[in-house]
Amino acid sequence: MYSSLTLLFLLLANAAPSDAGLSDTLVRTVSNAHRHAIKRSSGLARDLRTALGGLRVEQQLNVQQMYCVSGSGPGLTASNGTGLSGGGGSVPRPSGTATGTASAASGSSTVAASPWKLSQNYEGNSFFNGWDFFTQADPTHGNVQYVDQQTAQSANLTSINGAGNAIMRVDTTPTVSGGNRQSVRITTQFTYTEGLVIMDSVHMPTGCGTWPAFWSNGPNWPAGGEIDIVEGVNEYTNNQATIHTNPGCTIPSSNSTALKITGNVVGGTNCAAAETGNAGCGITASGSNTYGAGFNSNGGGVYAMQWVDSGISVFFFPRNSIPSDITAGAPQPGNWGQPMAFWPSTDCNPSTFFSDHSAIFDTTLCGDWAGNVWTTTNTGGQSQSCQQITGAATCADFVANNGSAFNEAYWEVTSVKIYQQNS
Ligand SMILES: *[C@@H]1O[C@H](CO)[C@@H](O)[C@H](O)[C@H]1NC(C)=O
Ligand SMILES: *[C@@H]1O[C@H](CO)[C@@H](O)[C@H](O)[C@H]1NC(C)=O
Ligand SMILES: *[C@@H]1O[C@H](CO)[C@@H](O)[C@H](O)[C@H]1NC(C)=O
Ligand SMILES: *[C@@H]1O[C@H](CO)[C@@H](O)[C@H](O)[C@H]1NC(C)=O
Repeated sequence: MYSSLTLLFLLLANAAPSDAGLSDTLVRTVSNAHRHAIKRSSGLARDLRTALGGLRVEQQLNVQQMYCVSGSGPGLTASNGTGLSGGGGSVPRPSGTATGTASAASGSSTVAASPWKLSQNYEGNSFFNGWDFFTQADPTHGNVQYVDQQTAQSANLTSINGAGNAIMRVDTTPTVSGGNRQSVRITTQFTYTEGLVIMDSVHMPTGCGTWPAFWSNGPNWPAGGEIDIVEGVNEYTNNQATIHTNPGCTIPSSNSTALKITGNVVGGTNCAAAETGNAGCGITASGSNTYGAGFNSNGGGVYAMQWVDSGISVFFFPRNSIPSDITAGAPQPGNWGQPMAFWPSTDCNPSTFFSDHSAIFDTTLCGDWAGNVWTTTNTGGQSQSCQQITGAATCADFVANNGSAFNEAYWEVTSVKIYQQNS
């Protein structure tokens, strides 16, 4: 357990904390492990914080931006400069995205007017248009090799199924030499500041070794902020939503009633990456249909992330209780009731801490979270450890030798819709 972190401590012991010659690679490795370890384990966090006490924050931040945002391809912006006031036929799209599905908030008299206008729609046969495929080494040290779009298609890791849903899976060949399985990580070319992101999925990756996420981040991490909408590992049962920011952003309380949320604050209330070793401030969902096998057996559902002046919220709707305004394409977040998570602007002004986000899907295996809790029991709603469940000593061994165990490690996504405010 924590073997990679042990190695880091050894490396740190051999490098003076203030050593200006400390390589970027080491800093990057440390700050990544640091981030995810602390996000998951406060005891470990303290140890790492002590070990990392001398590292200059600027060094960490400068290197982190290299992998938190895909470097390939120019970003496309929401507007050509004419603003968002155009009619239904002038919704800008990334080139190549041609679903023909313009804003659904059309003139239909049965749909109440929405404060939101559809800006981007990733759906159906053109789902994968407008995303960059990330092909660098996994920044979270997972046993995956992220592949480009052509490789993903020819290996059938991405496809559109008979229901018209986008599939993103990991390689399930029985054994893999080198220990890494092929997987997919995609980032929208489109970027947004404020907005409403609605992701409808019928299946998400689950099972020992998996670590999927649907999330977003901005430039110059953590200056542009990070919003994790769906995230968890292994056979966890409850989703965790988390934000990571520059210093100055907090959650005003850890009391769900006071926050008016259905979820639970899991760690600290300070969201600053640099001040918490990037623990971020996480909030877990209360229902076991929010993540993993429970989500899948219920037909999945809809996650919505609303980012407005008053704060950032995450909502979850199980398949059988999706609001009709969402289905109609005219979302009315004001009618949705309490979100599972909310970071109010009173203590974290979005305009200060978040900008120019791209939405991201990925599925990694093992790595800094799923791998590090491989032998942990009674965590995340999972009573047995993955070591007990699989009989494999390590997550990496399991990934290398048990391809068929990853048949459930796939996203099946009906749509991702990014709305922007009408006025
Ligand atoms: C921007 O959009 C407006 C409205 O659709 C259009 O009239 C204008 O030609 C566009 N400009 C560019 C540079 O594409
Ligand atoms: C590719 O994946 C899709 C979706 O999982 C599946 O339906 C199809 O049978 C696969 N095709 C091949 C050639 O394996
Ligand atoms: C949580 O907040 C509510 C509403 O502000 C309050 O009534 C309740 O006592 C608080 N609970 C705790 C444990 O502080
Ligand atoms: C994983 O693969 C090993 C080697 O083939 C096998 O002995 C073991 O039973 C497999 N475990 C599971 C849970 O399928």
